[in-house]
Amino acid sequence: MSFFLTPFCLFSDMDILFTLKHLLFSGFYNGHRVHSPNIFDFYIKAIFSKENFDYSLAENTLKNLKKSKQKIKVLSVGAKGNGSITEKEISKIAKNSSSYGRYGRLLQRISAYLKPKKILELGTSLGIGTIYLSSGYKDSKVITIEACPQTQKFAENNFKNLGIINIKSINANFDDVLDTILTENEDISLIFVDGNHTYEATKKYFATICQHAKKQTVAIFDDINWSSGMSKAWNEIKNSEKTIVAIETLRMGIIFFDSNLTQKIYCTRY
Ligand SMILES: C[S@@+](CC[C@H](N)C(=O)[O-])C[C@H]1O[C@@H](n2cnc3c(N)ncnc32)[C@H](O)[C@@H]1O
Repeated sequence: MSFFLTPFCLFSDMDILFTLKHLLFSGFYNGHRVHSPNIFDFYIKAIFSKENFDYSLAENTLKNLKKSKQKIKVLSVGAKGNGSITEKEISKIAKNSSSYGRYGRLLQRISAYLKPKKILELGTSLGIGTIYLSSGYKDSKVITIEACPQTQKFAENNFKNLGIINIKSINANFDDVLDTILTENEDISLIFVDGNHTYEATKKYFATICQHAKKQTVAIFDDINWSSGMSKAWNEIKNSEKTIVAIETLRMGIIFFDSNLTQKIYCTRY
């Protein structure tokens, strides 16, 4: 694995060219030059909102988990997974695999802005992203999928202990359940894809999401810049004819399927 230290953060195996290109061409800061009224509204109320949101549930939970010495047996799945089982400290998982900072907050604001009846998250880990999403709109139901049994159980117990009642946590592999979940829950309108970051898997999940997407569906892809495979997948997703609007930040890509919008890719310095 190779590491690159940029002025922005430390990336593993990342596509440096993609990042430089992004920084050169990202220009829709704060929504300026965004002409579509709906997308401009999304920019100012979700991406760059100045409103005071309460992020404390997700952020205090992450702070506590980062101190936990408890160990669980983690099944290695996803892009670098090899099916092995290793004992890992919760603090380490919390530090390495959780949404945090401005991107965690962005998840909460997108959920608050869209007020989706149902949200689907692919990749629970310890459930921090799930808590941001569920805190954004407490009337939504969040379905979250995690393949590692002990990680899923830990997150599920944590949701229970925190008194969060709008999350349904499922232990499964995305590949086995994505199509069924989207078929059985037609009212899922926000999807957060945050696991199995390979080119093939990401393209496959996008294709399945497209088959079920309605006008109101919004999908967020995390780590679009994490590897050259992810950059390639994101490049094809944002240019797909199925994607009406794509908003690209350095780390996350957000896509809209609403055919009333003008087809466009916005590259945003967030
Ligand atoms: C980056 S972490 C998720 C972080 C979380 N969404 C958050 O925002 O805090 C990715 C998780 O996806 C899980 N995962 C990877 N590939 C998977 C697959 N094919 N099916 C189910 N879970 C998978 C991993 O076990 C890992 O816990």
